[in-house]
Amino acid sequence: MKPNHSPSQPIGIFDSGIGGLTVAHAIVTHLPKENLIYFGDTAHLPYGDKSTAAIQAYAVKIAHMLLQQECKLILIACNSASAAAYDLVKEYVGSKAIVMNVIDPVIQRLKVNYRTKRIGLIGTKQTISSHIYKKKIDNLNAGITLTSHVTNLLASAIEEFGDHPIIDALLKEYLNQPELHDIDALVLGCTHYPIIKDRIAKLYAPSVEIIDSSDIVGQAVKKQLEKNRLLNEGGQSTKRFYLSDYTESFANNAKLFFNETIQLEHYPLWD
Ligand code: DGL
Repeated sequence: MKPNHSPSQPIGIFDSGIGGLTVAHAIVTHLPKENLIYFGDTAHLPYGDKSTAAIQAYAVKIAHMLLQQECKLILIACNSASAAAYDLVKEYVGSKAIVMNVIDPVIQRLKVNYRTKRIGLIGTKQTISSHIYKKKIDNLNAGITLTSHVTNLLASAIEEFGDHPIIDALLKEYLNQPELHDIDALVLGCTHYPIIKDRIAKLYAPSVEIIDSSDIVGQAVKKQLEKNRLLNEGGQSTKRFYLSDYTESFANNAKLFFNETIQLEHYPLWD
C-alpha cells in the first residue's frame, strides 16, 4: 500500500476535454463508490497537435493540482498525454499517488487476447508519431502486426459536435486509408473516440473488433486499487468536474455521460 493513503481519497482523472469522460464513466461503472475529480484542460484543447514539451508541462501542472486535492490515484485519461508525459508525471508524483495511463492496460489486453492478430490503430498526431503503441507491441513478441493512421481532426470535431452525423464524412476519409484495411481489430487510440464508436463500427465488417479502451482502463483501475487495498467501500461518492476554460460544448456533452446533474467548475490553472 502507498504510505498515508486512505480509500476515501479521490481518483483524479484528466484529459484535454470530454474524452476522459468516457474513461470516467467506465470507472463509475466498475467502481461506483469512488470519489472522483475530473480535470478537463479545455484551455489547451486539442492536445494531439501540441509539442511533447507543451503536453508535459500541462500534465505535470495538472498532476500537481490533483495532488493538492489529495488524489490517491491519478489517471492520465488521454492517449496523447499518456504518450508524451506518463514517465515524467510518474516521476514527479513519486510515491504520493499511483499514476496510470490509458495505453498500458490496452497493451496488456492485446497480449492476452490478440496474439498474432493484425491490429489497426487510430489516434492523434502526438500519439501516432510517438510510436508508443508500436514499441510496446513489439516488446510483447506476440506476433501482432500494427498499422496506424493519424485521425487528427476527430477529437476536435467530437468536442464540437459530439456524436453527430457530420463526423461520418471525416471517418470515411480517414478509415479508407490502406493502413486500416485488412485488420482483425481496431484500437481507438484516443479517449474521445468511444463517443463515436458505433459510427466507426459501421464502416467495418462485423468481424473487425473495435477495441474501446475506456472499459479496459476502468477494469485496470479497479485491479490497481484492489492490489493497493485502496478500494473505497463505503460512504457517499462525490464527483467534481473542473475545466481550465468553460465551454458550452463540454457542458452539453458532459451531461450525456452521467444521469445526475453535473456541476462544472472553472479552475483557472493557467491564470
Ligand atoms: N482524448 C485525447 C487523447 O486520447 C486528446 C485528444 C486531443 O485533445 O487532441 O489523445
